[in-house]
Amino acid sequence: MNTLLRDELSPRLDCEKVLEDRAERICDDLQHQGYSIQPSCLPADILLALQDQVMTLGDSEFVRAGIGRNAQHHTNDFVRSDKVCWMTGETAPGAAWLEWCESLRVAINRRLFMGLFSFESHYAWYPAGAYYKRHYDAFRGRTNRVLSVVGYLNSEWATDDGGELVLYKDASDRDGLKVTPLAGTLVVFLSENFPHEVLPARRDRFSIAGWYRVNSSIGDVLDPPR
Ligand code: OGA
Ligand code: MN
Repeated sequence: MNTLLRDELSPRLDCEKVLEDRAERICDDLQHQGYSIQPSCLPADILLALQDQVMTLGDSEFVRAGIGRNAQHHTNDFVRSDKVCWMTGETAPGAAWLEWCESLRVAINRRLFMGLFSFESHYAWYPAGAYYKRHYDAFRGRTNRVLSVVGYLNSEWATDDGGELVLYKDASDRDGLKVTPLAGTLVVFLSENFPHEVLPARRDRFSIAGWYRVNSSIGDVLDPPR
């Protein structure tokens, strides 16, 4: 390759290499334990853009989070009290995040043949005191969410700020594994296998949650809807 072309291409190739290395580690973990916790994982430029956007989103852009799908969807203060804002990809930060998750999707499918088909994602804002009680992101056979992704956006997080994600190994695990919601950390886990919860925090806590889905369209019913 001539030098000029190589210099022009190298930032992109570096990016791809970083993602491939990361995907390799995530897939190793998924294969051995079904989940992966990756500190300092989000690319710095994407993280900065997301932080910038989430801090400037107005109160009115967040809606009370609900539980259940479609007709079963409702809000329930007892289960969760965070607020969410769905990512549409219409703004540059959202588009960059969705594009990065798309590269990760392809990299995971290539290694684990999971058949991940599409991705949906939202910002979540947990005001001080907000929580999300122990839950599964998917119930076997009832949804097409198969792989959950959570990214964290708070640059500083003290031990006594609370707000940890607690990931339980299975239905009978009562101890769980606590994850500090510190900017750049990415948590990936099989949606049907890991109950988890968000403990109340002492201050605003910002995260991004996303789900890779498989295609369960039957006949002329598109699922996920496009
Ligand atoms: C969720 C969720 C975890 C977190 O939105 O389903 O579990 O740490 N989020 O924000
Ligand atoms: Mn969840």
